[in-house]
Amino acid sequence: MNILLLGSGGREHAMAWKINQSKKINNLYIAPGNAGTSEFGQNIDINLSDFEAIKNCVIEKNINMLVVGPEQSLVDGISDYFLEDSILHKIPVIGPVKAGAILEGSKDFAKDFMMKYNIPTAKYKSFTKSNVEAGKNFLETLSAPYVLKADGLAAGKGVIILDDLDQAKKALEEMLAGQFGNASATVVIEEFLDGIELSVFVITDSKSYKILPEAKDYKRIGEGDTGLNTGGMGAVSPVPFANKEFLDKVEVQVIKPTIDGLIKENIKYKGFIFFGLIKVKGEPFVIEYNVRMGDPETEAVIPRIKSDIVDLFIHTAQETLDEAEFETSPEYCTTVMLVSEGYPGSYEKGKRIENIENIQDSMLFHAGTKQSGEKVLTNGGRVIAVSSYGDNMIDALRKSYKNAEKIEFAGKNFRKDIGFDLK
Ligand code: AMP
Ligand code: GLY
Repeated sequence: MNILLLGSGGREHAMAWKINQSKKINNLYIAPGNAGTSEFGQNIDINLSDFEAIKNCVIEKNINMLVVGPEQSLVDGISDYFLEDSILHKIPVIGPVKAGAILEGSKDFAKDFMMKYNIPTAKYKSFTKSNVEAGKNFLETLSAPYVLKADGLAAGKGVIILDDLDQAKKALEEMLAGQFGNASATVVIEEFLDGIELSVFVITDSKSYKILPEAKDYKRIGEGDTGLNTGGMGAVSPVPFANKEFLDKVEVQVIKPTIDGLIKENIKYKGFIFFGLIKVKGEPFVIEYNVRMGDPETEAVIPRIKSDIVDLFIHTAQETLDEAEFETSPEYCTTVMLVSEGYPGSYEKGKRIENIENIQDSMLFHAGTKQSGEKVLTNGGRVIAVSSYGDNMIDALRKSYKNAEKIEFAGKNFRKDIGFDLK
C-alpha cells in the first residue's frame, strides 16, 4: 500500500513513524512534512490548499490511501473532493467529509449537535451582529468568568475568557465586528465549566469505533498553567484521573451518542474524532470536537498503540472496524515540546538544532524543523516533541526531561512542569 499523509507537524511525524512500522506499507509520502518525517518516507512540497496538486501527486505516485493530519484540509473539503472526482473516488481518505468536519469548523453547529443528541456540554447561546444586544443581555444572566467563542476556525485563538462583564460585552462587540474575520461572524457564549481537562480520541468507520488512549495536554506557555495559550506544550498518557469509571461515562454519555448522532444525520464519518473534555465533579462535559488527532497528544498516544495502524485505516475505509484487532500498551508515554523563544508570539526561525542524533531513550517527533544540507534547522514555534515511555509517569517524564536538556538550539524553551498537577 502507498500512503500519502498530509501535514507537517509533530502529529504527522508520529503518524509517519507508526505507519512506517506497518507490514502493509510500501511507500509513504508526506506533504509537506518536515526534517523528521523524511526518515520514514518521502517529503513532497505541496501547498495543502492546492487540491489539484494533491490529486496530481496521488496519480503520479500511485497512492492507495490519503491520511489527513490537519483540520483545515478537512473543513475545506478534501474528502469530498476525492469522493466527487472520477479518478480519485476509489481512493480512501482517513478524515471526514465536510459535513462531518463542521463539528470542528463551526462551534455553533457542534453545540446544536450536542443539544440534539443529549451530549453533556456547557449551556450556551449563539449571536450574530443582528442580535448583539441580546448577546449582552445573555451575558448578564451568566456569572463570571464569561466564555466567548468564535464560531469558525481561528487558528486556536478564537476562545476568549474574561472575568469582567463590561469587558465581556466589549469583546462580544469586537468579535462580531470581525476580530477573527468571518470566523467570528457568529459568537457562541457559554457557561464557564470549572474542572480539569483531558482529550479522548476515537477512530470511526461511520458504524463502529475504537477508543484510543486518552491524554492530557498542557496548553499554556507558562509553568503552573499561566500565560498565553499555545498549540500545546506537552502531554501525558494515560491520564491518572481518567479512571475506568470515568472513561465508561465518557463512552456512554459522549462517544456513543456522537457516533449515533452522525449516523442519524447521515454523515459518513471515516476518521478520527478528538473529544476535548472537562471533568466536572466526576462528570464529563464536551468543550469542543476536533475532527483530527491532537498535537502534541498524538506524540504520547500513538506510541501506546500496539496494533498495526495501517490495518486500522484499511478497516476504517472498508467499514469493518469492528473486526479490527486493536491493542494498546499499559505503559506511560509523555511528551515535552521544545519551542522557539517568543512563541506563541513572534519568534525567529532557522536556528541550528544540535544533539538530536545522540538521544537514546526518547523518541523525537519533529514539529517545526527543516533540513538544510546536513543541518536541521528550527522552522516553527513548536520545534520538537520529546516523547518517552515509562513504567509510570515520573519515569517517562524523567527521560523526556533529560533529553529535552540535551537537545540544543538558540532560544530553546520548554515547560518544566508537564504532568506536575497529576503526581
Ligand atoms: P478551544 O480553543 O475550544 O480548545 O478552547 C480553549 C480553551 O478554553 C479550552 O482548552 C479550555 O481551557 C477553555 N474553555 C473553553 N470553553 C470553556 C468552558 N465552557 N468553560 C471553561 N473553560 C473553557
Ligand atoms: N493540543 C490541542 C489540539 O491539538 O487542538
